[in-house]
Amino acid sequence: MKINNKKILLSGVAPTGNLTIGNYIGALKNWSQMQAHYDCLFIVVDMHSITVRQDPSTLRERSISFAAQYLASGIDPEQSIIFIQSNVPAHAELAWILNCFTNVGELNRMTQFKDKARKYSSNVNAGLYVYPVLMAADILLYQANIVPIGDDQRQHLELTRNIASRFNNLYGKVFQIPEAYISRAGARIMSLLNPERKMDKSDLNSNNYIALLDEPSVVLKKIRQAVTDSGREIKANKTKLGISNLLTIYSCLSGIPIAKLEEQFKDENYAGFKKELAELIIETLRPIQNRYKKLIGDKEYILTILKQGAEKASERAERTLKEVRERIGFVPLITKIQ
Ligand code: TYM
Repeated sequence: MKINNKKILLSGVAPTGNLTIGNYIGALKNWSQMQAHYDCLFIVVDMHSITVRQDPSTLRERSISFAAQYLASGIDPEQSIIFIQSNVPAHAELAWILNCFTNVGELNRMTQFKDKARKYSSNVNAGLYVYPVLMAADILLYQANIVPIGDDQRQHLELTRNIASRFNNLYGKVFQIPEAYISRAGARIMSLLNPERKMDKSDLNSNNYIALLDEPSVVLKKIRQAVTDSGREIKANKTKLGISNLLTIYSCLSGIPIAKLEEQFKDENYAGFKKELAELIIETLRPIQNRYKKLIGDKEYILTILKQGAEKASERAERTLKEVRERIGFVPLITKIQ
């Protein structure tokens, strides 16, 4: 389904930890650049967060803060729909239905589940296991055509496509089959101290990531500490993961291809390159942080945007859900067919 002849774009971030420049490069930056060309929905997916224990008041605060960071990163509420997932109960209902069209074998193959089950071994709950189905519901409810994500979500998108095709084959075309949009550069920003692992907003050691809201002095310190490799050349190379990651960050934020940066920094040492990178990050984050400070001081405004967003999203979600209920044989509410 296309609205105003524009294709539908949908994405989301789970409010856990702190939004990082990995999330910014892999998701938020693309969102704000794409929103003029697509009919967009951006979700703070708080129902995903509770697969791991959360403190209730922190979760509430963080969900609002993430919405403010979406806005501060350039999401325009006049153009795009921003909302909090739990404000639209249709997500839970469709997720249940889709659970019944998902094979356990498919879920067993999800690498993120295996990683998280290891990381949170004292709380391997059923929600963690069926989380990819909730993500499928998020996407399919809105008939999304395109889903911008980082590389770590590729498998979940593939599962979404399989569930949608299976359902459509059984009941006729109900769901749009979505495409992933994974940009070639920056789809996987790595941890600063351990560049073999992805940068993770829930990392217990905050020195592994740059948060969107990190102060300039903190950015400088973290980049200075970032692991580089033996040698001194500023060159991207499969055996030099640390410097390659820093070059990727530089390239994604400046728009300068890595080959050009290698040329530009050929006479520079690691310390000099890191200083310039830190400055680039600080200057990129400065306007975002300034807008964020203003926004977070006006919670009423953010809540109004989120309420309007949830209303618009609910209307669309309900259309899909009504169709799904009918096709699978649920009895309609009498009040609804009169
Ligand atoms: P989440 O919250 O872990 O991450 C949000 C987005 O940021 C991307 N990302 C990264 N990109 C580059 N480098 C990194 N180090 C990095 N870390 C994270 C993620 O790929 C993602 O695009 N299940 C999803 C949230 C979700 C969702 C959805 C996304 C729920 N429903 C529907 C799209 C559509 C998740 O946990 O992402």
